[in-house]
Order: sequence, then C-alpha cells, then structure tokens
Amino acid sequence: MLKSTIDKATGFEKRFENIGTVVFNNSKSASKEIAQEIASLIKVKQSQKQPCILGLATGSSPKGLYAELVRLHKEEGLSFKNVVSFNLDEYYPMEPDSVNSYVRFMQEQLFNHIDILKENCYVPDGTLSKENIRNYCDEYEAKIEALGGIDLQILGIGGNGHIGFNESGSLQNSKTRLVALDHITRVAASGDFSGLDKTPRTAITLGVKKIMEAKRVILMAWGESKANIIKESAEDQVTSRVPASYLQEHNNATFVLDKAASSKLTRINTPWLVEKIIWTDKLSKKAVLSLALDLKKPILMLTDADYIENGMSDLLADSGPAYDINIKIFNQLQNTITGWPGGKPNADDHKRPERAEPAKKRVLIFSPHPDDDIISMGGTFKRLHEQGHEVHIGYQTSGNIAVADDEALRFASFVCDYNTKFGIENTAATSIYKKAAKFLKNKKSSEIDTPEVRYIKGLIRRGEARATCHFIGLPDAQIHFMELPFYETGAIKKNPIKVADLKITADLIEEIKPHQIFAAGDLADPHGTHKVCLDAVFSAVKEIKHKKFMDDCWVWLYRGAWQEWGIDEIEMAVPMGPDQVLEKRKGIFKHQSQKDGVVFQGADSREFWQRAEDRNKETAGIYDSLGLAHYAAMEAFVRWHF
Ligand code: F6R
Repeated sequence: MLKSTIDKATGFEKRFENIGTVVFNNSKSASKEIAQEIASLIKVKQSQKQPCILGLATGSSPKGLYAELVRLHKEEGLSFKNVVSFNLDEYYPMEPDSVNSYVRFMQEQLFNHIDILKENCYVPDGTLSKENIRNYCDEYEAKIEALGGIDLQILGIGGNGHIGFNESGSLQNSKTRLVALDHITRVAASGDFSGLDKTPRTAITLGVKKIMEAKRVILMAWGESKANIIKESAEDQVTSRVPASYLQEHNNATFVLDKAASSKLTRINTPWLVEKIIWTDKLSKKAVLSLALDLKKPILMLTDADYIENGMSDLLADSGPAYDINIKIFNQLQNTITGWPGGKPNADDHKRPERAEPAKKRVLIFSPHPDDDIISMGGTFKRLHEQGHEVHIGYQTSGNIAVADDEALRFASFVCDYNTKFGIENTAATSIYKKAAKFLKNKKSSEIDTPEVRYIKGLIRRGEARATCHFIGLPDAQIHFMELPFYETGAIKKNPIKVADLKITADLIEEIKPHQIFAAGDLADPHGTHKVCLDAVFSAVKEIKHKKFMDDCWVWLYRGAWQEWGIDEIEMAVPMGPDQVLEKRKGIFKHQSQKDGVVFQGADSREFWQRAEDRNKETAGIYDSLGLAHYAAMEAFVRWHF
C-alpha cells in the first residue's frame, strides 16, 4: 500500500495535513504506484476467490493509471476477470457512444484493453428519462452494497474541491443523484464540448456517502492548477464548500500528488514551519520574502522578533542579526531588476541578470500561440528591439483552434466578395474559400473544421502576430511561423510531440544561433500546448547543446497568460513605466480575434490585455511592498540552465 509520508514519531506533518499525502516527482511514477496497489488488491481478492470492487473516475488525472493497468494486463498478465467496476459519474443527458461520454472514455482508456467482463462495468446511464433517475440511482447504490461495498475508490479532484460531481455544497451523507454542475466545472469541461454553451449543465454522480464508505480511497492530483485546492482539502477545516475535505474523516484515504500539486502544502511551501531544515540560499530567500509579505513589511523593516515569532529563529541564529539577513535578501532582489534584458553594454555585469557581451545579441523568442510573446513579455520584447538586439520570434503553433467560426466566415466572405467584384470568382482559389464559407455556415456543434477552414483561421492569427511584430518594429525576415505538427489536429486534444516538432525547433535555433532564447515556461500544466511547446524547446536545446554557438546561449523562461513566477523564483524582472504599459496594450490589441469573449475564455472573464496588465502590475506591486522601487509594471523571468 502507498505509504503516507507523515512521520509517526514526530507527528510533524500532522500539524498541518489532516490526511495522508504522498508526493511523487511526476504523475507517471505516481500512477505506476497506484496501479501496483490496485494490482495487489485484485490478486489478493483472486486468491480469496472474491470479486474486487473498484470505484473508478474519469478526467485527465486517471489516464496514466489506466495506461499502466493496461500495461500490467498485456505485459504481466494481470487479469481483471474478478473485477467489478462502478464509475463515479456521467454527464446527463449523454448518449453512451458520444465522444464525450464517460462510457466511451472508460472503454477507450481501459475496458477495451483488458479482460474485464463487460457486464461487470457499471457507468451511470445518461440516457434515462428524468423521472427514472431517482430509482436508477438507488439501484446503483444497492448493487454496490450487494457486492459488499467498494474496496478501492479512485478519485480526481475538481478545481473547486469536487469529488465525483459532488460540487461545493454537497453534504457528507449525499446520495447518488442528479446534480447541477458548477460553472467552474463546466468551464473546465468546455474545451471537450467546443464551448461553454454546448457543455452539459447536469450529471449523475455517486454520492459522497458511498465514496466515504469505500474501504480505501486514493485521490490523485497533478499539476499546479490543483495545488491550492489540495492544500485546502488536506489542511483546512472539513467543509461542504470543499467536498474533498470530507476525506480527512475517512480512515484509509490518501492523496497521491505530483510535486506541482503538492507545492502549496505547508510542509512543502514553508518547510521551516514544520521541521528543522538546512537553510540553503534559496530557502532563506523564500522564507524572508514570505515573512515580509505576510507581515506586510518592507524587507529592511523586519526585526529579530519577526524572525523569532515566525519559526525562523534558527535562521536568525545561523545568519543573523535580522539587519544582515535583510540586507542580503534585499540586494539579491534588487539585482534581479534590470531595464536591460539583453544585458547593459559596457557595464559591470557581475551582479546583473544578463551578460554585457556581446552588446548586440541575437534573440529568439518562442511563442507557443501567436500572442504569448506580446501578452507575457511584450515590454521586454519591445525593449530588446529598441536596445538594438536582433530579435526573432518563433511562433510555435498556428493557434487556429482559438478563432471563432463567425470570424473565419467574415474573412472567407471577404475574399469571395472581393473576387466576385473583380470577376475572379470562378478560380480554384475562390472555390476553396466558398467551400469553407459553406462549411462554416452549416457547421454542427463539435464538428472538426475542414483543413481549409483551419488554414483560414491560422491565417487570421498569422496576420495578427505579424501586425504585433510590425508594431514593435521587426522586419518580416525575423518572424518565423513554425506550425508545429503536433498542434494540427483541429481538436482540443493534440498529438504527442514527435521528431518532426523537435527538428523544426532545433533547425530554427541553429539558423539563428541566438545568444538568448525566451520560452514560455509553464512547467506544471500537464496537457496544455505551452507545456508541449516548452518540451520541444528543452529537447531541441539538449540535442544541440554541444554545438559551439550554444556555449554562448542563455535560456530565459517567461510564464503564460495565467500565472507568474513566485517572487522568490524571479531572476530577471524587467520594469515598465506607465507609457510602456500602454504601448504593450496596443501590441496586444493587434490580436483582434482574441478579444471580446474568446473561444476559450476559461473561468477568467478578463480580456488578455487586462490579465497581462493586472499580472505585471501585481509583480511591480510586490517589489514595491517589499521596499524596492515603485514601477508601473514588471515582467518576470527565470533562467533555465541546460
Ligand atoms: C471524473 C470526476 C471528476 C474529476 C475531476 C478532476 O469522473 O468525477 O471529479 O475527477 O473533475 O478532473 P481532471 O482529472 O480532468 O482534472
């Protein structure tokens, strides 16, 4: 069985986590461990000639687990003949063969690849008439009870703390039932349903009571987006607002996490509050900065008493008094600020984030989508160009999926009308546009765009990206549209990264031989395009790092549209004045297809320029509150050493 890391002897972590948590380096190794526990249970039950009752979940979290179970079946002969499975939930209404049904998900991810008996696989029925649901749910529970209850329940967790589709507000004794889905749950699912308006509003879910009655519960969570809710569920009070927190009262439940999902747990985020630690420079910086922010004091105003009263007396004893520690950390932070992101020519650079030489650098900015460059580092982009560096942009994907149909139709109609006006409507090119326009006018929901339509959508985004580059002042020769093939599925689900993607990336680096590479460093987003694009850059860089020009190449990572680096992580902060903020806004405005309610709005209703400005202002605000200079906004970077 997976061992919780709570130290029974000291009880240290018990002070903060009210449930066992196990942290793995990544979701793959975690999924393997969970699969091992399931396999052992199935075998024990086999030896006792008993059925093994599994409670199963869908979503992105269990995919790696199911892949490993399939492997265990195929390569190690694990049999599922004695397994009876009950899925947690299903959208309602939902046909079982629909692309988004959980029946289909389970068949594709697991059932079709193992020897489980079809009649032993239960998934709530999304096709019932409303009046029959109640009875059906009672029978679903009765079947579980008749088999002696669930032996092992697998769970994911929603961003709001839901388990199954027991949303915030579900009671601990709630039964299996029809529920209304939360807005945040629908937003998370809307990608699969091509938009929020097409996403179901209701679902059938196993109640919290049956989940709590399971003999063993494993909740999995991967990625930074789950970190806050994991902390709340594991450390804060049990509350119906966060149904996963009920598991604190289960006698055999474990949270299995990857590093990113565990990153907000007290013992990981602020380990000095939990146990005696070795004060590395990194930890000291993190601790001092969070102390100052918690106490709302500038760094230089922290006193010995502040350190002592907040679990940092050993740091004070090692490196104090407070004045000395404060000065050291203040200077470190001060040295991250630079208006010269490409290095300051002829300046002493031993404390600056970038090298002074060569004074004119070749810079390659990788932008996963056509607008990430300007949204996430527009101020720095402009400054690099103005300071005389040769800036190239590599647009990694076409971003075509995020263009609305009516926008594409407008452009297709424009071409058709233009060609009609000038008597060239009967050409082959016009007929392609006509075909695309016809398709768009009759498009059914969740129908995948034709290649022509995708091309039009890609062209729209290309034009916008080019407009931004021209606005900054870049010539066409420095704009590179990479169109990485992994992205071109026409659907939200992308292909895995392949040799072709790496080759395009490595070729561009070789062609430019940059002194600086900037890439979107969304390290913890397990499925998103940004992560795949970053993997492509990392792999390409590793592949060619032995080449001479790479000796003089530094890689900087910026964050995508939604997050920023932690203040303690930032290694270069590029400040902006109020006018520069406005200039950046104008650069973002060039992306007209991404304004006024985009296809993938997410839970955040702000426009991209607003998100960018809020985030850059917030970073500047943090520097200011820590007692450093007050700027209008700041863009932040972390260096990646390869
Ligand atoms: C799925 C389910 C949900 C998910 C949760 C997390 O059957 O009941 O509770 O486990 O929404 O989803 P992912 O894993 O996609 O983040």
